[in-house]
Amino acid sequence: MRHKQSEYMHWAKTCSRARFNLATSGVGAFPLRELPFDPAKLEINGDNKYGYDPLKQAIAAKYGVDPDCVVEAAGTSMANHLAMATLLEPGDEVVMEHPAYGPLLDAALYLEADVRRFVRREEDGYSVDPAEVRRVLTPRTKLIVITNLHNPSAALTPEAVLREVADMARSVGARVLVDEVYLDAVYEDTPRSAIHLGPEFVVTNSLTKVYGVSGLRCGWILADPELAWRMLRMNDVYAATAVHPAELMSVAAFQHLDVLRERARRIVEADRRALGGFLERCSEVSAPRTQWGTTAFLRLQRGAADEFLSRLRQDYETSAVPGRFFEMPNHFRIGMGVDSAMFAEGLRRIEAALVSET
Ligand SMILES: Cc1ncc(COP(=O)(O)O)c(C=O)c1O
Repeated sequence: MRHKQSEYMHWAKTCSRARFNLATSGVGAFPLRELPFDPAKLEINGDNKYGYDPLKQAIAAKYGVDPDCVVEAAGTSMANHLAMATLLEPGDEVVMEHPAYGPLLDAALYLEADVRRFVRREEDGYSVDPAEVRRVLTPRTKLIVITNLHNPSAALTPEAVLREVADMARSVGARVLVDEVYLDAVYEDTPRSAIHLGPEFVVTNSLTKVYGVSGLRCGWILADPELAWRMLRMNDVYAATAVHPAELMSVAAFQHLDVLRERARRIVEADRRALGGFLERCSEVSAPRTQWGTTAFLRLQRGAADEFLSRLRQDYETSAVPGRFFEMPNHFRIGMGVDSAMFAEGLRRIEAALVSET
């Protein structure tokens, strides 16, 4: 039987919510009323066969690439799937980070890839170690998959490391898929996209996590024009056209990206300060600190997180993502950027639950 499910996504849709919901990964919703957009401009149908030109141009302009490098997709989820479905044949080898965002692994398994894992070690702040990538790379490798920022830890992979990984990929004729859905949550000196680092790179992203407009499902792939065209042809199998009203609103969102991003930034930064204080006080948990990103991956010093998280939900009305979804059962992930009062209270409740266990 082929792999046809995502346990994480099922859990996220059915079990993640709580009064104090720290099981998030993206920032809070940006309200429509704050988006300068004239509803009279909304239309149901449009000229959007292989993408809506103004949206492709807006995405291309964000990166300074040719619009022919842009493939629209329904969120980073579909972007990742489409990219892998185009690049992989059954049995092809994929080298993927561990811990990994579950649906990336699910998509590769669904496509019947032979998935090999390179480890991002907690003691190294979950950084990508090129030697570790080299350890699992073989002449059969077709794709290397990295999230940057890393989900769950928010670790940033610097350009020099990405270049080393690209060199390795080139040596075996592979590509490097970089999921950059969290990259713009580096608010100071935001690194440029991996798309600028070489032809091996294929980049996926969306307006969902950092910009608070997840409902628009505005995602995209960046690749060289020949590959981008193959992806568009692949997409013919999945979809006719995109939802046009969402394309129109996404163009409006692109015109005000800084406003969307800055609104969330204030909340993310306040939450990170609260998290810093929490980690100072609580010796029962530990996590590598980052100065960016919307998630943090915490290790529970004693035992598995599942039992702790059920108690946290039941007795403290607080949720976080179990580490088992990242194949690390002693950990859990928390999310910043939604509501600072809720986040602070959620942390207070985690602390109370940890203390009550000792
Ligand atoms: C690394 C990563 N990629 C993709 C996604 C899905 O993003 P989207 O909502 O844009 O489909 C997520 C969501 O949590 C994610 O963490």
